[in-house]
Formats: sequence, C-alpha cells, structure tokens
Amino acid sequence: MKGAVFTEFIEFVEESYGFDTADVMLEPDENSDKIYTQAGNYPFEELVALVLSVHETEKVELEEILFKFGRYLFGKLIRMAPFLISDSNSTIEVISKVDTYIHIEVKKLYPEAELPKFHVLKIEGVEYLEIEYVSEKRLEILAKGLMMGASDYFKESIDVFYEVVNEEPYTVIFKVRKIG
Ligand code: HEM
Repeated sequence: MKGAVFTEFIEFVEESYGFDTADVMLEPDENSDKIYTQAGNYPFEELVALVLSVHETEKVELEEILFKFGRYLFGKLIRMAPFLISDSNSTIEVISKVDTYIHIEVKKLYPEAELPKFHVLKIEGVEYLEIEYVSEKRLEILAKGLMMGASDYFKESIDVFYEVVNEEPYTVIFKVRKIG
C-alpha cells in the first residue's frame, strides 16, 4: 500500500488520538521497523497492524477508526492532486467517477497502487447513486469515510447505506443519497 496512506494515517492518529497513542503505534517490533515515507510502498498488513494498535490503546471500534480516517483522508488526497476533482461539482458525481477517472489517474501516477473496483449500478443526477465495491481488502468502511469526506468538501449532506452482497469476491453495494 502507498506510503502516503501510512504518513496520512500517522498524522490522523496524532491529531485525533494524540502523540502518546501514535508513539505506541510506531514502536518498532519484530515484524516492522515502522518507518514510513510518502514515496515508499508497504504491505497492507502493516496498515492493519497500525489500526489495531490504535484500537487497543484507545479502546475504540475498528470501524470508527477506519471511517474517521477515510473522512480525513479525502481532503488530504485532494490537496495532493486537486485536478482529480476539478471537473466535478457534487459528491455523487465524484463518487461515480472514482473507478472510471480518479483511480485510473492514481494508477498512472502510482503504478504499484492496489485499487478497489467500483461499478455504478444506478445514478439519478446528483441526488442518488448505487455503486458496487469489490476488493479483497474489505475496506468498505474506509470507502464510506472517503464518501463522507467528499460530501464535507462539497458542503453537502449525504446518507450512506451499504450491505455486503458476496464474500468471494468480496462485494459491497453502496446506496448514497444527497439529503442536503
Ligand atoms: C469518494 C472517493 C473515493 C473512494 C470511495 C475511494 C475508495 C478507495 C478505497 C476503499 C481504497 C482502499 C483500497 C481497497 O479498498 O482495495 C482506496 C485506495 C486508494 N485511493 Fe481511493 N477513493 C476515493 C478517492 C480517491 C482520490 C480522490 C484519490 C486521490 C489521490 C484516491 C487515491 C487512492 C490511493 C492512492 C489509494 C491507495 C492505493 C494503494 O495504497 O495501493 N482515492 N480508495
């Protein structure tokens, strides 16, 4: 997984849970020296270990950490590559373009990125979207957070409902509605 995701996660933990929790999370162990650079690439399992460390130190649910991180991450990603959404004017539009534009450009910039698949099932203007997420990483909660982050960016309110519809390949259907 991209080093930028790790460095953003570390900043997120420092801001949301404090430096002590971040220090505990970054103590080197037998599996990793826990040193991350933006340009590097690291096993996905290492990110999982960092999330688990925060979960144990802070006694907060894994889902809550991943959701909040996704929400935080969207703005950070856009600051790194604003052109990715310069043609979009709404949350629904951005989410509908993740697979057909945004992640395609990400892959050009970072060929080693491992990206999920999204497939639009239904779209009603800028009001409603049904979209399928397929990924062995099972990060639908991060995806929900990223969607909320997009709605923060556009100063809109959305309601996101999702359900797991298949285990192999792991598939989740999202229903996203603009509510304000
Ligand atoms: C609402 C919009 C977005 C959604 C729902 C979304 C969803 C996701 C998810 C769920 C992952 C985790 C990998 C997986 O599940 O298999 C991911 C990875 C990633 N996404 Fe997006 N994404 C969005 C927008 C963006 C934007 C704007 C960027 C701009 C740079 C971006 C860049 C990346 C990168 C770099 C990764 C990590 C790939 C890796 O480390 O190998 N995404 N995305």
